[in-house]
Amino acid sequence: MSISVDPDWWRTLFDEIYLVTDKRSVADVNITRHEIDILGHILPLEPDARILDLCGGQGRHTLELCRRGFRNCTVLDYSRPLLSLGHGDAARQNLPVSFIQGDARSLAIDSASFDHVLILGNSLGYLADREADLQILTECRRVLSARGWLLLDVADGGAVRRQMTPNAWHEIDGEVVVCREREIREGCVCAREMVLRKSSGLVRDQNYRIRLYSADDLVALVARAGFTDIQQHDPQSASLARGKDVGCMQQRLLISARTP
Ligand SMILES: C[S@@+](CC[C@H](N)C(=O)[O-])C[C@H]1O[C@@H](n2cnc3c(N)ncnc32)[C@H](O)[C@@H]1O
Repeated sequence: MSISVDPDWWRTLFDEIYLVTDKRSVADVNITRHEIDILGHILPLEPDARILDLCGGQGRHTLELCRRGFRNCTVLDYSRPLLSLGHGDAARQNLPVSFIQGDARSLAIDSASFDHVLILGNSLGYLADREADLQILTECRRVLSARGWLLLDVADGGAVRRQMTPNAWHEIDGEVVVCREREIREGCVCAREMVLRKSSGLVRDQNYRIRLYSADDLVALVARAGFTDIQQHDPQSASLARGKDVGCMQQRLLISARTP
């Protein structure tokens, strides 16, 4: 088996169908609340903090932060469909969130504009070029103020390597079936995703590739981007501090770092 992947897959995959295929993790408000609880244990968030949710999709984390009183939040993402959904949700809830379309490798944002940059929900490692993630982290450093905070939440590559099965499928709402065929190649997980609607047939047949990071690799990359005070956090102990289970953060690497 060799799953071939268009290097630009990430430009088209994140749309309304993705919100269905990944509904279990990205459309469950309880999971998002739990993730923000964990984040609140790690970052010293002041009420007026300027927060950038980079690769923030439909802004689920930012909307939750905003509901908790953090009113200076921006979501940046490449996907116009997700941004448009997030914009609609924010308007309906009367939440003052800015949504910006852009590429995380080159941000149209002034230097030192934010106190915190968040990259959550496994949003690194999509670009074929190995140096692209370094470019993204270097941009994070540039848009952060002095002693600003970066928080990365990325799948634990070691756990993925140990636990991944070559084939998996799940059903959503009794109507949609998501089948994934996967292999690990050149440090990446490559997958073919087929999405079928029982009533109407094939909805999507697309391949994607995500780079797998070990904790050491990710820490080294963050250091290369010029960050200091790099710390790895245990999602379990962060959440146990509030007596909750670890939910979808179980197989994650949570790394915080600061600008010099
Ligand atoms: C798995 S989703 C996670 C979204 C969000 N962080 C969450 O947890 O719900 C990954 C997101 O990263 C965005 N993305 C990937 N590469 C990007 C890039 N180079 N620039 C901007 N956004 C990007 C995608 O459009 C997608 O919305």
